[in-house]
Amino acid sequence: MTKRILVGNWKMNLGPKEAGLVAHRLASLAVNLKKTEIWLAPSAFSLQAVLTAAAGSPINIGAQNTHWRESGAFTGENSAAAAKELGAGFVIAGHSERRHVFHEPPEESAERAAFALNLGLSAIFCVGEKLEDRESGRAGEVVSAQLSHLFRKLGDNGAGRLIIAYEPVWAIGTGRNASAQEISEAHGSIKSLLKKNLGSDAAPILYGGSVVPDNIAEILRTPLVSGCLIGGASLDIGKWEAMIADSEAI
Ligand code: PGA
Repeated sequence: MTKRILVGNWKMNLGPKEAGLVAHRLASLAVNLKKTEIWLAPSAFSLQAVLTAAAGSPINIGAQNTHWRESGAFTGENSAAAAKELGAGFVIAGHSERRHVFHEPPEESAERAAFALNLGLSAIFCVGEKLEDRESGRAGEVVSAQLSHLFRKLGDNGAGRLIIAYEPVWAIGTGRNASAQEISEAHGSIKSLLKKNLGSDAAPILYGGSVVPDNIAEILRTPLVSGCLIGGASLDIGKWEAMIADSEAI
């Protein structure tokens, strides 16, 4: 059975000390899980501390927003190859905060994911519409355009390690999660785009946006949801315990 994936996206939170503490607690929980995989994406400065704290556990640890070149004159950027050398297993690319706060062009988000996939890492490629897109009936079109950039860049061997995260922008950090119906519709269209463009719709599709202990069970029961990308609630070990317990119980 494919395990459900719960990813903690720690964004620019938890310095090395705190991140190491949460990871250490999670590492002892992770060894006994039957249905759930835990993935953590700490900030770059906390990556090593988290790798050390969770060493020997089944937690998959990754990096946020790595660049599409291995090295070079790119002040302030992070190399996926360097993250891999440390022991990272995946990267997150195309997060809405990159797209909308930092105005990252869609082709760059796609390049970031494609480069990491070509290196042999997994990549979580985030897509999602803004509130105005949903209200004007353009949600599907926006997500499809974001994915089309990725399909154009994807090499032959990367698709098997690709993960899509559907994260409507209006649901991220707002306390307003998408409904089960909105999620399954979006995941359904993503699935058909994967099939049409990659010849396979096997890539897991996660939901992200205000996932918390109170709503995770309903979200995980929603058809076509392979797991969740969790921001705020993933900073708190107590919330992790509750969310993992729900995931294992479903
Ligand atoms: P949130 O963030 O759970 O705090 O809404 C999710 C994300 O941005 O990945």
